[in-house]
Amino acid sequence: MPPSSATSDPDQQRSQPTLSQATFRFRCIGCGSITDSAAQDFRCSDCGNLLEITDSSWNSRNPTALKSLWRERRTLNESLDLSGVWRFRELLPAPQSEEHVVTLREGNTPLYELPQSSRATGITRLYAKHQGMNPTGSFKDAGMTVAATFARQAGYRWVACASTGNTSASMAAYAARGGMRSLVLVPEGKISWSKLSQALDYGALTCQLRTDFDGCLRLLQELVRRAPVYQLNSINPFRLEGQKTLAFELLEQLEWDPPDHIIVPGGNLGNSSAIGKALLEMLEIGLIPRLPKLSVIQAEGANALVRTLREAGGKRLVSVQAETRATAIRIGNPASWEKAVKVLQATGGACEQVSELEIAQAKAEIGAEGIGCEPASAVTLAGLKKLLLQGFVKREETVVLVLTGNLLKDPDFTMEFHRGNLFQGTAQEQASEKLNPFRHPPVVLDATLDAVIKTLEQAEKSDPAHSNV
Ligand code: F0G
Repeated sequence: MPPSSATSDPDQQRSQPTLSQATFRFRCIGCGSITDSAAQDFRCSDCGNLLEITDSSWNSRNPTALKSLWRERRTLNESLDLSGVWRFRELLPAPQSEEHVVTLREGNTPLYELPQSSRATGITRLYAKHQGMNPTGSFKDAGMTVAATFARQAGYRWVACASTGNTSASMAAYAARGGMRSLVLVPEGKISWSKLSQALDYGALTCQLRTDFDGCLRLLQELVRRAPVYQLNSINPFRLEGQKTLAFELLEQLEWDPPDHIIVPGGNLGNSSAIGKALLEMLEIGLIPRLPKLSVIQAEGANALVRTLREAGGKRLVSVQAETRATAIRIGNPASWEKAVKVLQATGGACEQVSELEIAQAKAEIGAEGIGCEPASAVTLAGLKKLLLQGFVKREETVVLVLTGNLLKDPDFTMEFHRGNLFQGTAQEQASEKLNPFRHPPVVLDATLDAVIKTLEQAEKSDPAHSNV
């Protein structure tokens, strides 16, 4: 691919791949110091805080020109334009050459209306941005295409991550695509088989460690100091750059009219940080006239950010021993907590927690919309209901829920819920009976027409109001 050259012909400009010379740098989110390169742990050598990527060329972009360029690329067939991440490359760190780019056509995810939840909550403009429709079924792909590209450019043979499942599936796929080997560290018995099986199929060296996610991440930090592996956790700031594109694409889908609220699940807190960074950059460039409020929802049993804000005013991390059936966000010691606190404060967002019962109900409700998601994503709808009750969200406002993972990511949770044994033997067993109206258990019948017709009639009688309007 030829490097982009200055040309006065606008048509020529459009058809050029336009990967510009690398102008990005690393900035410490704590002391603000700027460097050209980052150490393996992506932390500031002065104060130890996390690094983020910054690029002075971003601010000089013309917002109107960017909007039409990005829209036009949706009609083009160039590899970079087909990616819903690289389509926005003017606001991403630029690799040296298109040859380094590792892409699986990520992004380009749908923005759905949620008619049933709209009716139930009274919020008429309620949408779900479904990142579970990415190539490996989660939002991680948007970040992984960028980080894997820079790993390949740097010549790494091995990439590695600690994961609750989705990062490992995504990393393994992008490593395979980019001709690199991948090392996965996951907590034994605490991630869904569906995610684990993806890593195996994509050829990762998969280690199930007898610890939790936080233990896996700690071990990875030591490993990258001792072995020539490149870490692809969301501490890696290239990941967050790719994840910014969720916000660019969302705003494009809303014709650049910002929603009042964007609500995301919070685990290791990389995604909320990335979306917040994108919103702030878009405001600064003039792509949007005002900031949406970015709110983060956690499971009650993995509520480190909630406690960090309530008990320590966001000044120091309050870690927890995490426990939740939403295993994707079973994280007690989130790495990007300071980045998340900053964007919550900058956008005026809220941070809430929801119970296991609330998560299960919300997941079933999102399923009943014909969309579905994994449990961790459902915290957004459960959290929205709370924020509405508290008056933080108003019915006349526009709300976007970010669904982070596909329904097929955790079939065990879904089957147990519908069969009625998700909460068996837990303290919520009795209370979970109120979720019975949301269950659709399979029925086993003799293979006769009579039996099927009888079952059909019973179903019609028990739910006569169910209609397709
Ligand atoms: N939703 C899903 C489906 C996830 O997989 C994760 C994180 C989150 C939400 C939380 O995002 O960490 O950026 O705050 N999963 C990671 C993993 C930790 O290893 O797959 P976050």
